[in-house]
Amino acid sequence: MAEPAAAKAAAEDTAERVHVPERSGNGADPEIIEISTSPETANEEVLVLDFGGQYSQLIARRIRECGVFSELLPHDTPIEKIRRRKPRGLVLSGGPASVYAEGAPPLRAELLELGIPVLGICYGMQLMVHTLGGDVQQAPAGEFGRTALTVREHGTLLEGLPDDQQCWMSHRDTVFSPPPGFTALASSPESPVAATEDTARGLYGIQFHPEVVHTPHGTEILTRFLRDVAGCRERWSPASVITEQVDAIRAQVGDGRAVCGLSGGVDSATAALLVHRAIGDRLTCVFVDHGMMRKDEAEQVVTAFRDQLEVPLVHVDAEDRFLGRLEGVTEPERKRKIIGEEFIRVFEEEAAKIDDARFLVQGTLYSDVIESGGDGRAAATIKSHHNVGGLPEDLDLDLVEPLRMLFKDEVRAVAAELDLPERFVWRQPFPGPGLAIRVVGGEVTRERLEILRDADAILQEEVRAAGLYRELWQSFCVLPVVRSVGVQGDERSYAYPVVIRAVTSDDAMTADWARLPYELLERASNRIINECSGVNRVALDITSKPPGTIEWE
Ligand code: XMP
Repeated sequence: MAEPAAAKAAAEDTAERVHVPERSGNGADPEIIEISTSPETANEEVLVLDFGGQYSQLIARRIRECGVFSELLPHDTPIEKIRRRKPRGLVLSGGPASVYAEGAPPLRAELLELGIPVLGICYGMQLMVHTLGGDVQQAPAGEFGRTALTVREHGTLLEGLPDDQQCWMSHRDTVFSPPPGFTALASSPESPVAATEDTARGLYGIQFHPEVVHTPHGTEILTRFLRDVAGCRERWSPASVITEQVDAIRAQVGDGRAVCGLSGGVDSATAALLVHRAIGDRLTCVFVDHGMMRKDEAEQVVTAFRDQLEVPLVHVDAEDRFLGRLEGVTEPERKRKIIGEEFIRVFEEEAAKIDDARFLVQGTLYSDVIESGGDGRAAATIKSHHNVGGLPEDLDLDLVEPLRMLFKDEVRAVAAELDLPERFVWRQPFPGPGLAIRVVGGEVTRERLEILRDADAILQEEVRAAGLYRELWQSFCVLPVVRSVGVQGDERSYAYPVVIRAVTSDDAMTADWARLPYELLERASNRIINECSGVNRVALDITSKPPGTIEWE
């Protein structure tokens, strides 16, 4: 919970109001610290109300990329809560429903009367038009994908943009005539009114999606709404996130102590650095080294944090302990469970040694909040994910989650601003259970981990050398515990294969196998076989997700 002292500190920085994002630890609503009571002083933020659209999160992210803080809220967020936030504008997202469908998420007319501009996108526009007496109907044909947009009247929203442009549509219902007081601005082959506005009331609607890259002028349209219509100033940047979060952390932690589990990934590292900046050495990081990290990774974490960044760090070398518990275990879910449980045990033991640590820092991202059903949607469990964030609630520590409002690429920007070494900033995702879930079909042993680690390091080197590391979502090796016959140096070999797995993806929900250049594959294959004893064959996994998953277990 925020304290008045923090409000004062925040006031000095922003001279306005600071929004402290919701923290899952105390279950409280997002809290507003009132600093100025002047009605002129709206927050530099635009709220996006989510009507279930595929791109709703992306709208908020694009707005933030335009330098304005934005957050996605459920469409039925209480009006009072929205009012208290004092946003400069509202965006109504798209959604899959028809305004005429039973149970379709409705639009509360009060939202259009808050005295702030509203931009409706796709379903959001249809709702606005329908609510205010315009004509929305199902068109003879829907429009999905690239669509030509013809601007007839530029108005405020489309001022300065070309008469003919491309946009991205995804709709069946369409607006045939705007409500009284509105001007129709543009049309497309199946949408007589593809953009409309009522500048007097500050209401704007577009049928297409400005947030996707396939609408080339989308960002300009969003900027026009944010800057010229809503009067937002560009205040949101990695540096402003740091200032804001450091204040919020100080307010939450007070003079207490905090502990943070580092995984080597960018999220926990960035969260730790933010907290360290806020409370200095009252933060202790714990790095549970389960012995299943990639080559040199444990050492890199220790060197970066302890020596370069000077963050207090406890390095727990628990390899023996983890391998001991994995003896004889081959079943993937059991493996994951054991590692997850053991991780918690080790972490708890170490946390207990830190005198009066009352706070636990976690690198939870916005996408984690959504995936875990934080916004009311839940995803089916395919694998029981283990990560540092999976610590139990009965740890009796309050959560500090400074990245809850950010997407991965925003975290990377913040991380770079905090001087996290480049290697960590751009690290590809790595699963909590580490290489253990890449030794498949047999027991996880030290010897097999060693082979896999060496092969994986070679692949990483080659992928980096080819300049592809950042382009790939992940690239790694898998070691199936089977042996095949080969011939090496005129002798028969009987050794393991290594499988190369490289995928492209935006969010790991779906993925495609990466078309790695043959030259890269050839070099990696030769080097793996020549340099890793115990390997005599290299194969390539060409399965997308679905039907495969990215990891083999
Ligand atoms: P799958 O294999 O389910 O993986 O397609 C999707 C993404 O999640 C990563 N992954 C994990 N991350 N703890 C994590 O923090 C885990 O237990 C875990 N299992 C898989 C995987 O590497 C991929 O990026």
